[in-house]
Amino acid sequence: NCSLNTTTNHLRHVESMAVLPSGAGKIPRLNAVILGEALASEEDDLVFPSDDFARQALLPSAQKYLEMYKRSVEDPAGFWSDIASQFLWKSKWGDTVCSENFDIRNGNVYVQWFKGGITNICYNCLDRNVDSGNGDKIAFHWEGNERGFHDSLTYTQLLSQVCQVANYLRDIGVKKGDAVVIYLPMLMELPIAMLACARIGAVHSVVFAGFSADSLAQRIMDCKPKVVLTCNAVKRGSKVIHLKDIVDAALSESAKNGISSAVLHIAYSFGILTYKKTPLVSKDVVPTYSTICEVEWVDAEDPLFLLYTSGSTGKPKGVLHTTGGYMVYTATTFKYAFDYKPSDIYWCTADCGWITGHSYVTYGPLLNGATVVIYEGAPNYPDPGRCWDIVDKFKVTIFYTAPTLVRSLMRDGDAYVTRYSRKSLRVLGSVGEPINPSAWRWFFNVVGDSRCPISDTWWQTETGGFMIAPLPGAWPQKPGSATFPFFGVQPVIVDEKGVEIEGECSGYLCVKSSWPGTFRTLYGDHERYETTYFKPFPGYYFSGDGCSRDKDGYYWLTGRVDDVINVSGHRIGTAEVESALVSHPQCAEAAVVGVEHEVKGQGIYAFVTLVDGIPYSEELRRNLITTVRNQIGPFAAPDRIHWAPGLPKTRSGKIMRRILRKIASRQLDELGDTSTLADPGVVDQLIALADC
Ligand code: WTA
Repeated sequence: NCSLNTTTNHLRHVESMAVLPSGAGKIPRLNAVILGEALASEEDDLVFPSDDFARQALLPSAQKYLEMYKRSVEDPAGFWSDIASQFLWKSKWGDTVCSENFDIRNGNVYVQWFKGGITNICYNCLDRNVDSGNGDKIAFHWEGNERGFHDSLTYTQLLSQVCQVANYLRDIGVKKGDAVVIYLPMLMELPIAMLACARIGAVHSVVFAGFSADSLAQRIMDCKPKVVLTCNAVKRGSKVIHLKDIVDAALSESAKNGISSAVLHIAYSFGILTYKKTPLVSKDVVPTYSTICEVEWVDAEDPLFLLYTSGSTGKPKGVLHTTGGYMVYTATTFKYAFDYKPSDIYWCTADCGWITGHSYVTYGPLLNGATVVIYEGAPNYPDPGRCWDIVDKFKVTIFYTAPTLVRSLMRDGDAYVTRYSRKSLRVLGSVGEPINPSAWRWFFNVVGDSRCPISDTWWQTETGGFMIAPLPGAWPQKPGSATFPFFGVQPVIVDEKGVEIEGECSGYLCVKSSWPGTFRTLYGDHERYETTYFKPFPGYYFSGDGCSRDKDGYYWLTGRVDDVINVSGHRIGTAEVESALVSHPQCAEAAVVGVEHEVKGQGIYAFVTLVDGIPYSEELRRNLITTVRNQIGPFAAPDRIHWAPGLPKTRSGKIMRRILRKIASRQLDELGDTSTLADPGVVDQLIALADC
């Protein structure tokens, strides 16, 4: 059972926090008067919710948070069962709400929530909302890449369309437990396809439609789907991308590896697209199916989806989430972190190809019966005002995006923002990477007119939902801090030895004991699950992130501490980029590090050693970049190629990335001890070539 320690450190921190007076309950409301002034330190920069906001907030005080948080860690079974009971279960879970082993020293790691409970997440997203009288409410507003193209679906219409796809999938032989790969752009058909899979108990694996044929093939070969769902093409910004051709290439590559028989390819094309290139089969077939589809009732612990994400080694990891706990967790985090009310219009700019689009475009909002805006195109197309045009058009109240977009729009100037009203906005959100205080302030002051709290949500593909996030209205924010843990989450900061550090400190961010949205395994590789996440610091889940906690108990995420980089909020393993580079016949060796990038957060910086006798050239540089684009996707293209006659290695042959990071960021006086290198002269050669 989840053994929870009643005096968790976090509780102690929160209870002793100066800004959260546990008895007083009332927080002084300054409405951001402090903004913009030079402060002694970021830690002292408090931004309070306005009176108006706090008055209507779901969680209006720190006191209320504290009560709920306390119960969530002292009685997780009671806390989460009460919430879970608001959903429809064909039959309730057994006596054990949660069962787990989070401590590798006690045997295999496992997590179960609501085991024995029988439910269906698609039913809870759609039928439950239709049955409760919300059938005519808009579920999705869709905005196309080109201005003037838009569409919408009510909950009743969405349910009908999901049922047609579900019936179609069943008819072509997809059964409970089968994998279905979805390779689609941001059309309503993408969440429709996900929901259709969930309805019949199939396990969806959405692959972001910016991944190349090679990356798609790799994922297809790993999860061996019965079906790959795609469409003919998409226009993103001014570019047309022929998705069907990419899928064809991926399927022929996986066929070479002998798994073609497992893949049944259907093409799936959608209304507005006019640039058809390949003939498609199912576009006209799906609407002939019935709009009523029996639900496949599943166990809470039956798999819902697989989503591949990058790790420290080359092979992407298939993160597996199950049904019941994920459902309860995404719904609850969505509701509280965005202070969601039924009248809200919610827009999350993430693509469903990433976890944010799973939990906070599709499942979390629909479980709450929300109206969701889906945008097909690029956020700065045809100009950097497009987002605010969409906000005004649909009267968006909650706007959730990534710091990289905030920084890029900030660079384009305030005029693109201020020419739109944006008066509908009331809550802003940020995800994917740390948001630097200056971007935070611009987002708050300019986009939100100093009126809208920002929910800076820290979480991961693995966590399923928010882990550390502000609950707007409950306490003052600090620009750049994700603030405090969500209900049921017990963050722990440890040192290199895995010893928990208390109070004000910096270290590695871990989590003690499970939460309902915890991922259950890595598909087909439970050992890698245990080794990656539970072995580094026994007794805890290790996030891979560095973190500090300030004197008031606020958490500040400082970025990845492993070989994962975060480029424009996209998670990329340095090893994946390296293996793409070395596949080029003229590349002998490559080492990739992340460097600070003004807009993207981190940029990709590649040190490349060429095969003997091959001269450096601009053409080769371009070819290397193209190789990475083709093998992973355009978003993984290196920003910089640094020619390297050799790489700094220890005598045992290990590349010293610490030194490469310093050279990449030109911190040449901070190289540290280079005497342990097999050939210290390499460092000078690299520095000499820095600007070539
Ligand atoms: C980073 C995205 C700071 C972090 C939901 C994490 C963040 C990785 C934040 C997971 C945030 C995400 N502040 N860093 N608010 N949100 N990260 O799996 O490094 O694509 O480990 O999930 O993004 O990326 P993933």
